[in-house]
Amino acid sequence: MLALISFLPLAAVVYGSPLTNYTGPPNAHCARTTYRISLPPYTTIPFNSSLATDLDPTQPAVTELQAQFTSSQADFTEDYMSGTNSSTGAVYDISGVLCTPKGGDKHNGTIQLLVHGIAFDSSYWDLAFQPENYSYVWRAAAEGYTTFRYDRLGTGESDHPFDGYHEVQAATDLQILLQIISLLHSGGIGGNAYSSIFAIGHSYGSIQLAAASGIVPGQLSALVLTGFSANGSYVGQFQTSNAFSRADETQPSRFTGLPGSYVISGLPQSSQINFFYYPFYDLDIASFSFSTTQPVTQGVLFTFTSLINGASNFTGPVHVVTGDRDWVFCGAQCDIEPDGQHTILELVGPTIFPQSSNFSVFSPANTGHGLNMHLSTPDSYTNIMDWLNALSA
Ligand SMILES: *[C@@H]1O[C@H](CO)[C@@H](O)[C@H](O)[C@H]1NC(C)=O
Ligand SMILES: *[C@@H]1O[C@H](CO)[C@@H](O)[C@H](O)[C@H]1NC(C)=O
Ligand SMILES: *[C@@H]1O[C@H](CO)[C@@H](O)[C@H](O)[C@H]1NC(C)=O
Ligand SMILES: *[C@@H]1O[C@H](CO)[C@@H](O)[C@H](O)[C@H]1NC(C)=O
Ligand SMILES: *[C@@H]1O[C@H](CO)[C@@H](O)[C@H](O)[C@H]1NC(C)=O
Ligand SMILES: *[C@@H]1O[C@H](CO)[C@@H](O)[C@H](O)[C@H]1NC(C)=O
Ligand SMILES: *[C@@H]1O[C@H](CO)[C@@H](O)[C@H](O)[C@H]1NC(C)=O
Ligand SMILES: *[C@@H]1O[C@H](CO)[C@@H](O)[C@H](O)[C@H]1NC(C)=O
Repeated sequence: MLALISFLPLAAVVYGSPLTNYTGPPNAHCARTTYRISLPPYTTIPFNSSLATDLDPTQPAVTELQAQFTSSQADFTEDYMSGTNSSTGAVYDISGVLCTPKGGDKHNGTIQLLVHGIAFDSSYWDLAFQPENYSYVWRAAAEGYTTFRYDRLGTGESDHPFDGYHEVQAATDLQILLQIISLLHSGGIGGNAYSSIFAIGHSYGSIQLAAASGIVPGQLSALVLTGFSANGSYVGQFQTSNAFSRADETQPSRFTGLPGSYVISGLPQSSQINFFYYPFYDLDIASFSFSTTQPVTQGVLFTFTSLINGASNFTGPVHVVTGDRDWVFCGAQCDIEPDGQHTILELVGPTIFPQSSNFSVFSPANTGHGLNMHLSTPDSYTNIMDWLNALSA
């Protein structure tokens, strides 16, 4: 018997399991699958702060690292993160959900790839809170689109590697995204080889997509970057105002077992500042979002801005959809014109996508960084679907 037991796969530990029984929109067939993703050798950013030598720092050490990083990113980078490190042979289990419209896929050969940001897992795209209003997957299925969303490494039902500094960092997330894109084209997801990928990101998900578009410009057909700009001036206040706290100590019932490098927003009001523009949202969606929040590693927090350095060679169409009151990417004033001519959002075109065939911006009014969680959300989805439908027409 003992010998037999050793052949049984160990059930993966699932952190932060959902609080509701919602299993997806009624207008789509949704299937969750775990994909074993092997990464090619790639370059990571070294990290050798003595505050994190045991990879499981105490809350005061976590906070001190955050303070040092935010007070002088240049010094922090030089002291702890200069040079390069390498990763070879990394393999991760990544969990994703493929949703096919019950009414039939009206865009044969095209799939929408949905990449979520920090503080969420992929359920950001199919919120269990009033999904008839807020689920992007539901709305896309109503327009006949198949969607694929996946949980970033260290969130949801994907692997949670113990090393949240050297392993779970932005370079790793980008490599995983590149593998997902490749799998979608080869038929490795759902059995259909998709010839066209419409890639939709939110926040850090948009950052990863912008980076991927420069590395594999021919493999993405269109980009919709939500909760995004090219202006990094406000990322520092995102880092501090979240009061990032050990996930396991802040929500023990959901995250016990995770090391100290995995953090979540410490307070509902931190989450409000970063994601919501009061009072233009349902207060209950803010509570829901806070109680279902997902961790991010300090490795990701210290490296995610490194993914964007300069212009992308992407030549396809790009649509930026960022709320006018996005605090993280605009300091809550997206209509400021830093050059006296273009808003912060319009500057994404010349700054990051100078070769895009068709660059446009939509900035819904009275909307914060959490684009999918405001009263404007249904209108934002209409705008995105109209833009995509015009492309595929
Ligand atoms: C989920 O479904 C089970 C079984 O039907 C039920 O007992 C439970 O209360 C439900 N949970 C929620 C949060 O709705
Ligand atoms: C390099 O990466 C390996 C594997 O992720 C890690 O164990 C090691 O600590 C890293 N070295 C530095 C200096 O970051
Ligand atoms: C980290 O590594 C750099 C380069 O090797 C070195 O200069 C620095 O002293 C190291 N810092 C710590 C805290 O180990
Ligand atoms: C989808 O496209 C493929 C390849 O072009 C074709 O073989 C298949 O019949 C199409 N399916 C539908 C439902 O139109
Ligand atoms: C959300 O959906 C519910 C139920 O369908 C509806 O009563 C409510 O008015 C909707 N809210 C918004 C903001 O659309
Ligand atoms: C973009 O294209 C230029 C010219 O073809 C090339 O030199 C450069 O390496 C490309 N950049 C990336 C990130 O692929
Ligand atoms: C970012 O926004 C700030 C404040 O509006 C502005 O001073 C700065 O020039 C902007 N930077 C870029 C690159 O647009
Ligand atoms: C740009 O995209 C929009 C929306 O998809 C479309 O209506 C318009 O025709 C496109 N313009 C060009 C020049 O392709």
